[in-house]
Amino acid sequence: DSLTVFFLLGYLFILNWRLTLIVAVLLPAIGWLVSKINRRLRRLNREHQLLTNELSYIVEETVGGYKVVKVHNGEQYEMSRFGEMSRRLRGYQMRMTVSGGLAQPLTQFLASIALAIVVTIAVVQASHDQTTVGGFVAFVTSMLLVISPLKHLIDVNQPLQRGMTAAELIFGLIDEPAEPEGGGKPLERARGEIEFRDVSFAYGPEGRPILESVYFSAAPGEMIALAGPSGSGKTTLVNLLPRFFDPSGGQILVDGVPLPEYDIHALRSQIAMVSQDVTLFNDTVANNVAYGQTADPERVEHALRAANLWDTIAALPEGAATLVGDNGMKLSGGQRQRLAIARAIYKDAPILILDEATSALDSESERHVQAALETLMKGRTTLVIAHRLSTIERADRILVMEAGRIVERGSHQQLLEQRGLYAHLHKIQFQQHAA
Ligand SMILES: Nc1ncnc2c1ncn2[C@@H]1O[C@H](COP(=O)(O)OP(=O)(O)OP(=O)(O)O)[C@@H](O)[C@H]1O
Ligand SMILES: [Mg+2]
Repeated sequence: DSLTVFFLLGYLFILNWRLTLIVAVLLPAIGWLVSKINRRLRRLNREHQLLTNELSYIVEETVGGYKVVKVHNGEQYEMSRFGEMSRRLRGYQMRMTVSGGLAQPLTQFLASIALAIVVTIAVVQASHDQTTVGGFVAFVTSMLLVISPLKHLIDVNQPLQRGMTAAELIFGLIDEPAEPEGGGKPLERARGEIEFRDVSFAYGPEGRPILESVYFSAAPGEMIALAGPSGSGKTTLVNLLPRFFDPSGGQILVDGVPLPEYDIHALRSQIAMVSQDVTLFNDTVANNVAYGQTADPERVEHALRAANLWDTIAALPEGAATLVGDNGMKLSGGQRQRLAIARAIYKDAPILILDEATSALDSESERHVQAALETLMKGRTTLVIAHRLSTIERADRILVMEAGRIVERGSHQQLLEQRGLYAHLHKIQFQQHAA
């Protein structure tokens, strides 16, 4: 269409350059209008896309969080949120339709005015014998021929604009820097020596510091416990080890080598992690335990036994082939946590991170699981986070954190004798226990 327009204009110019010049003045005016409408369409499109996203978030949240919605009687609120968003979405849709619908009649209207002007001038020229009937007919025919491809070019615009905005959003995501692959250094099986050297960290470049000059080291096989008030940065600290984030200052070393030098997959295969919030996949128990590897039934059973979950699973009609539902919906909180522990056991990695791994268990199963974990910890370097201090008493070293710093360090006995924060926390828990 662009080519047709181009050549027809050239032909028009040869036929009658004066008239064509006039057309050439009128055309940009139409072009200007079209681009004006385009810009509006694009802006509306972007808003429309964003609102659509938001609408799907609302639906997702409401469906996913239906328990919270119900128990707080939030149906009305969610409905009004959804209604409001749909209303705005409809508003944008309407405005887009209006702008899109306006483009055609407006340009055609302007085109007919232009045509009228051209015809008038041609008539004047004819009366002065400056053009022939043949020339005039050829001119008008060619001009009419220009209109159809021009119209196509304008029509193709709306879908194009929509595609452009969608592409902008998608490429925005694709252009996000990918996770660093790490250096090429392979790591078959780490000995498990960990060292934090003056590590500091903030979420985002402008975030407040969450960790400040944290240093400690763990020899292979040692158990290091992290204690301290909620929000003091314990989870953040252990998340640095598998490089979910990189520290903003300082260095972390495994086996004496800074983390960025390792191939990131090799590094991560050294680490088994039971995190504060358990994630399960809508798959079978066995595949959840063996996640990332092919499930070997014997090893799965062994891991489940060690996590004190085998009896429960074996009693299910389909055993380890039972589907656990969305994020393990069909399991209890404690069972989910034990499944996560079984997953860590199955992974058999030299570094073990336990973030509140036994917090959802009753005292009875905690004792069992604790025993299993202790067997598991043998020969592995373990970082344990626990609010229940009784579970970390036998750690080789306890690091007590407060507001991103390690304020005390030592064994359980040493820390009690220091009569600092740890002793204080311990005293409170002990009193609660006695009560
Ligand atoms: N993704 C994040 N973005 C921004 N800030 C965060 C993020 N995750 C945690 N924080 C902040 O970092 C601080 C430390 O959080 P962290 O989860 O490490 O605490 P914690 O010691 O594990 O606490 P708890 O014992 O309650 O689990 C908190 O103040 C929190 O607000
Ligand atoms: Mg935490």
